[in-house]
Amino acid sequence: MKTTPLGTRVVPISAAPGRLRVLDQRRLPREEVWIDCLSADDAVEAIRSLAVRGAPLIGVAAAWGLALEARRLAESAGKEGIEAAWSDAASRVAAARPTAVNLVVAVERMRTAFRDSAGKALFSRVSLLEAEAERFEAEDRAACEAMSRHGAQWLVERLGGEAGAPVTILTHCNAGALATAGVGTALGVIRALAAGRPVAVFADETRPFWQGARLTAWELAKDGIDVTILPDVAAASIIASGRVSAAIVGADRIAANGDVANKVGTYGVALACRAHGVPFVVAAPRTTLDPACSSGAKIPIEWRDGAEVLLLDPSGENPFSVAPAGVGALYPAFDVTPAALVDAIVTEAGVSVPPHAGGLARLLALP
Ligand code: MRU
Repeated sequence: MKTTPLGTRVVPISAAPGRLRVLDQRRLPREEVWIDCLSADDAVEAIRSLAVRGAPLIGVAAAWGLALEARRLAESAGKEGIEAAWSDAASRVAAARPTAVNLVVAVERMRTAFRDSAGKALFSRVSLLEAEAERFEAEDRAACEAMSRHGAQWLVERLGGEAGAPVTILTHCNAGALATAGVGTALGVIRALAAGRPVAVFADETRPFWQGARLTAWELAKDGIDVTILPDVAAASIIASGRVSAAIVGADRIAANGDVANKVGTYGVALACRAHGVPFVVAAPRTTLDPACSSGAKIPIEWRDGAEVLLLDPSGENPFSVAPAGVGALYPAFDVTPAALVDAIVTEAGVSVPPHAGGLARLLALP
């Protein structure tokens, strides 16, 4: 069967040999401002500050940041100078954020390309690294497309009902085109569903960085998909009310046993779904699977500055404190949803259903 590629008007990164530009997601939806990265450290800063975010996109930006760094060092430090300086830069990039394993996967891919090209002339070496970053980005784009179709097909079968019947999907954080090089993971599945039926989306606002209210709502509205923002604290009662057909989220790291680290608040959505018989689905490329992590307990969780919780608009021009002066706040940026609550893990290679340990190992073994 022939299919038309899924589309989106949202593009968060623009990279080519010698160039890396990223859309500054801190400023959405107010304004579309692009940041020019001139070195690996510029890419690190963009990732750390959440100008670039979302696990797959972090990986793509890291790969391009290291390609850029190779060119920069080739021009400024020459053949000898590049060795240690590039490896140090790779370590700084890998440490930019701890939870999304895609970052480490991207850096390892670039390290391998750097090692394998050691015998080449300096600028051929740079070109090989740029080609590797380009390949990594293209693979993510293709993975989004494939997982979106797998996820939509799985959901259509699971939800049953008449062909083309409307569905309502709840999502948390932003797992869309803004978080990947393609149509997104969870929002890619939503785009694929919307190609065949009316789809309405409930987007959790996702405090305190507002990825749902600012980013998911922006990108779905831009693509003409019906989206309504929910306060995070309303998700459970909306799920209980029977108005949600399924919940779909992305992931930052999935352990070998199927435990899923994603934006804090995901676990609560999964619990509410299980309590009310609503399918809970995770969509992620295989670059998000971490077979070396046996369970969610081993996944490093990023703790961000509690000040971000106290401010109403932490990335805005006029951050406004909602709390009394002197009171602190805790901000674990991710939580872990146990595999037992996950009805399906959708990847570009297919869908894992419980028990996920075997399902994920099978998917990882596929070409
Ligand atoms: O802190 P963020 O915005 O990088 O967190 C992003 C998420 O948790 C996403 O849900 C996840 O990376 C999936 S992106 C396709």
